[in-house]
Amino acid sequence: MANLETQYLGLTLRNPIIAGSSGMSLKMENLLEMEKNGVGAIVLKSLFEEQIRFEFKKQMVDSTSNISYPEAEDYIKQYTAQNEVEKYLNFIRETKKQISVPIIASINCYSATDWVEFAKKIEYAGADALELNIFLLPSDENTTAATIEKQYSDIIDRVLENTNLPVAVKLGNYFTDLSRFMVQLSWKKIKGLVLFNRPFSPDININDLKVTATNMFSHKEEIATSLRWIAMLSGKVHSDLCASTGIHDGAGVVKQLLAGANAVQVASVLYQKGIGEIKTMLAFVEEWMDKNNYKSIDDFRGKMSYKTSTNPAAYERVQFMKYYSGIE
Ligand SMILES: Cc1cc2nc3c(=O)[nH]c(=O)nc-3n(C[C@H](O)[C@H](O)[C@H](O)COP(=O)(O)O)c2cc1C
Repeated sequence: MANLETQYLGLTLRNPIIAGSSGMSLKMENLLEMEKNGVGAIVLKSLFEEQIRFEFKKQMVDSTSNISYPEAEDYIKQYTAQNEVEKYLNFIRETKKQISVPIIASINCYSATDWVEFAKKIEYAGADALELNIFLLPSDENTTAATIEKQYSDIIDRVLENTNLPVAVKLGNYFTDLSRFMVQLSWKKIKGLVLFNRPFSPDININDLKVTATNMFSHKEEIATSLRWIAMLSGKVHSDLCASTGIHDGAGVVKQLLAGANAVQVASVLYQKGIGEIKTMLAFVEEWMDKNNYKSIDDFRGKMSYKTSTNPAAYERVQFMKYYSGIE
């Protein structure tokens, strides 16, 4: 029988299917069901940098309580009522009691400020790894690519100074020099790159002229972007690769492993088809491996990467003249 074990972030996963960060990974009952259906690891719903910074502010005011800042106090009272940060740490502790697969905490962030010290608390709470979801939209016409890239680097450096946890970085694909930048990041002590995050998509309601959200969930066809870049970067980066976006079935998992991924993350499909889909996807991967006589993931991982595929140029092709000219 095929062995689906894989190494990711220095952790041994029983198989490469990771439940990606989403609202699903907020509830213990979902996590238990994911585990029951065979998931390899779970990324918890992200805590936002802003939430952590608010909590730090509260601590600062507490320690100088002889000074009165009425506005800050109001705000803090309101925030303390939610206490999301402590809840998050408690949730990590609870998952480590109830769930046996690796638990990866997640933070959405955009600056290298004091919040980075929070990485320590995540480590002490018992998480097995930390995923940083960094997304800086290059929307400011006065900010150069070099400035934006430095911001990514600074965040990662500061987080790495603050924790011994294995760190993965989840990125979007808005980079002009994507290959160079990914390779450069992978030389840092991060253990993994998660390609790619899927941004919020805006739409316009033409009746009330409001900006709305659209396309909350991915489609199967969206796998193409991460597949291309996993294939292109496999064997070039010095960290593990985890594919994310558009993986909706077992074939999608197999494709990403062939391209060179160590693991994959799934989110939309769990909303659309249910958590039980993890089991179906795993059964497909196992059957495919048996049919093709692969005993372990390493027997075929990266077999279709840019470096090893017999037709690497296909991954670089963006203007497909022959393809488009046949359509009338
Ligand atoms: C409802 C929902 C909530 C999400 N919340 C987070 C989050 O908190 N942090 C994060 O890094 N990604 C979040 N994501 C993004 C997913 O982890 C994933 O990167 C993205 O949906 C693409 O994967 P998919 O095609 O399998 O859905 C969320 C996705 C969905 C659908």
